Amino acid sequence: MRPLLLANIGQLLTLRAPGKGTGPRRANELNDIGIIEDAAVLCDGGKIVAAGKARDVLRYPARKKLKHLKEIDCEQKVVLPGFVDSHTHLIFAAPRLVDFEKRIAGATYEEIAQAGGGIRSSAEAVRKAPVKALVQQALAALREMAAQGTSTVEAKSGYGLSVEGEIKSLEAIQQAAKAWPGTVVPTLLGAHVIPKEFQSKPQRYVREVCEKMIPLAGKRRLAAFVDVFYERGAFTLEDSEQVFEAATKHGLGVRAHVCQLSSAELWPLLRFHPASFDHMDCVNGEDIAQLARRDTVATLLPGANYFLGLEKFPPARTLIEAGVPVALATDYNPGTSPTSNMQFILSLACTHMKMTPAEAIAAATINGAHALRLAERKGSVEPGKDADLAIFDVEDYREIAYWFGGNRCNAVVLNGIVTR
Ligand code: NIG
Ligand code: FE
Repeated sequence: MRPLLLANIGQLLTLRAPGKGTGPRRANELNDIGIIEDAAVLCDGGKIVAAGKARDVLRYPARKKLKHLKEIDCEQKVVLPGFVDSHTHLIFAAPRLVDFEKRIAGATYEEIAQAGGGIRSSAEAVRKAPVKALVQQALAALREMAAQGTSTVEAKSGYGLSVEGEIKSLEAIQQAAKAWPGTVVPTLLGAHVIPKEFQSKPQRYVREVCEKMIPLAGKRRLAAFVDVFYERGAFTLEDSEQVFEAATKHGLGVRAHVCQLSSAELWPLLRFHPASFDHMDCVNGEDIAQLARRDTVATLLPGANYFLGLEKFPPARTLIEAGVPVALATDYNPGTSPTSNMQFILSLACTHMKMTPAEAIAAATINGAHALRLAERKGSVEPGKDADLAIFDVEDYREIAYWFGGNRCNAVVLNGIVTR
């Protein structure tokens, strides 16, 4: 890997910490994206070694010693840390076109699930798919994400819904991650929905997850996190507590899908120190007050609201004003959010959730990194951090959230490797 100089940057969004705090950004901190004009970034060995005003970086003493320095002229455009997409369902086998048409004809997401569509119908295809096919599809999606400015991706299993199917999905994530220069964080979502064959005995399925899937994923280091869909029609609070207990016992972090379709109590899960609570559309006021005092990140997924054709979007302003740290992610999945484009998510956050472009960018970079407990390495452009950068063909960072439906990303740097 050659050392790399990004020169002639018009606006560098560093996302460096505004104060001494090291936790996720909240309230006003989200608007401070650390802009430096006429900037440069120097990388070596996959890490950022200097970032700042071009004249300072060019004077950096060790620069001359770097052999075969590759220089990219950024032509006065915008450079920011690569997006951290902290919530994706990377492993699935087929789009859900029948559900799509049923919703167009007026059925709701829950009605379709109850009629045998939804997550359960995706499981059939994943169970049948050879691991090689899943790897190829995952890799194609990772490359598509990178081409749109994403350098770190959380990747969930969750459409296997059996020990074999879930472990196969995690193996596919591991193999795809090895073939991609970016960073992948694997999550076991065995508790996505109760599969057909356990419908009359849901507790037995929770035991499959807790006693088989989680121990195996932990032992084989196939997952960093365990996720659960805590929602009516999926898993209860008691189920979720059991899943979190098993995850903790086996050394895995926890996160959860919560309050997407209906409101539910979150505080009983806080004792497990979840890295994030995701969706949060129907979160209640008491939980908001609790979350304002914690580092659990509220990860908002407006792609799902858009694709389900909902009028309401996650309550970003209420959360931000209460002091809850928020992140934004694609929720890339075949049922509710088939997009890999973080730029579109930023657009939705601004137009439908009234986040400022700066807040949206902080939520999609540094707070995404916090949601994955990777903020020491990812999410900002600072010496010592991983060389993950995105170069955008815009002159003002606000344009990234302004132009929608396309791709303004020119190139990404993934752990020091330039990809276009
Ligand atoms: O985040 N809500 C649960 N999981 C996904 C949807 C999964 C699906 O419908 O396939 C979500 O929206
Ligand atoms: Fe999801």
